[in-house]
Amino acid sequence: MNIIDIINKTKRSIPLTEEEISSLVKKYTFGEIPDHQMSAWLMAVCINGLTEQETFALTIAMRDSGKVVDLDMPLTVDKHSTGGVGDKTSLIIGPVVAACGACAAKMSGRGLGHTGGTIDKLESIKGFRTDLPLYEFRDVLKQTGFSIISQSDELCPADKKIYALRNATGTVDSIPLICASIMSKKLAMNADCLLLDVKYGSGAFMKTQEDARKLANLMEKIGTFAGKKCQAVITDMNTPLGNNIGNALEVKEAVELLQGKTKGRLYDVCMELAAYMLQLAGKGTISQCRTMAEEAISSGKALDVLRRTIRLHGGNECICDDVSLLPQAEFSYKVKATEDIKIVSFNTEELGMTSLLLGAGRLEKSDRLDPSAGIVMNCEAGDVLSAGDVIMTLYSSFCSDFSDAAVRALNAVEFLSIEIPSYT
Ligand code: URA
Repeated sequence: MNIIDIINKTKRSIPLTEEEISSLVKKYTFGEIPDHQMSAWLMAVCINGLTEQETFALTIAMRDSGKVVDLDMPLTVDKHSTGGVGDKTSLIIGPVVAACGACAAKMSGRGLGHTGGTIDKLESIKGFRTDLPLYEFRDVLKQTGFSIISQSDELCPADKKIYALRNATGTVDSIPLICASIMSKKLAMNADCLLLDVKYGSGAFMKTQEDARKLANLMEKIGTFAGKKCQAVITDMNTPLGNNIGNALEVKEAVELLQGKTKGRLYDVCMELAAYMLQLAGKGTISQCRTMAEEAISSGKALDVLRRTIRLHGGNECICDDVSLLPQAEFSYKVKATEDIKIVSFNTEELGMTSLLLGAGRLEKSDRLDPSAGIVMNCEAGDVLSAGDVIMTLYSSFCSDFSDAAVRALNAVEFLSIEIPSYT
């Protein structure tokens, strides 16, 4: 079977066999199929989709293009979030799950565009190494039950090459391609159980709840076909998750939550996700697992897991007791209400882009990050603010002129002017 026949079959919605997909992935990875032909096939997939069997075959072929990790631990649980703004859940849930006796093992990526990356957040902790070799990763897991490392080049080289091509050819937004890309990496990581958190809304990859549901269902099916215990949930990313956006700012918020100082939506989302992970690991019913997760925080056990994991990764674990040891921005600017207003909603993607422009993210893979940069939100949808009240504070060490960022940040807030009744 040659590549032209494969492109033509997908163009005409004729399903490919497992052998054809496996050969396509192998040949592209080894440079035997050129980019222009692979792009044509990817575009045919974007337009016509793939069957579940084809998506499964593509996922397995991409997984098998590299190493499959042997975690050598019982009860391993991995979580994947499809990316968002202010999403620091992995830093909270991993320690919680480990404190409850399961093993949270995760490989994460760096942030690109408006969404943040867990690896960048962890690297804002002085000394923290995210590039541990697999034997050290396993050692941290054995000692604390929680570790996160950066994506290894040995895992899923096919996805790396295909994802770069998709980025350059407008072929990212295809549910089967996104599913195969994410699931091949998760299956290569090889945890026993997988929680898939698919986000929807203005700050997410999937803009609608319907698309998020489709992706979630497909990922859950593919994981289950591959023999994993899998659960997909969909969560709202129409508003940032928590108050802080930006790397050190998000670590600070995660630590404060683990210290038991804060509750709210971030706490609720984390407790729900942790409960699902513990249930997958066979720790009890959802309500028993939620109680266990809450106790892991109130007892300080989850914070202790984080402290020990940071130490084993070479980082300064004292940030768990004193968050002022995290990088602090040199400059800040308060964005204030100029009249009495009611907050209606946020354009979360725009808030992510504002944070990126302040130095917290990157447009290109090679861009340098400012770990201290970002935004702290002072309000949520539904709040009523008086003229002069702070809507959010912007932080940066890269730039002291906040004029562009402030305009962009304000444009990301939808509000109604309100008239305060006068009783005179
Ligand atoms: N994240 C991935 O890893 N792959 C995709 O295709 C989209 C998001």
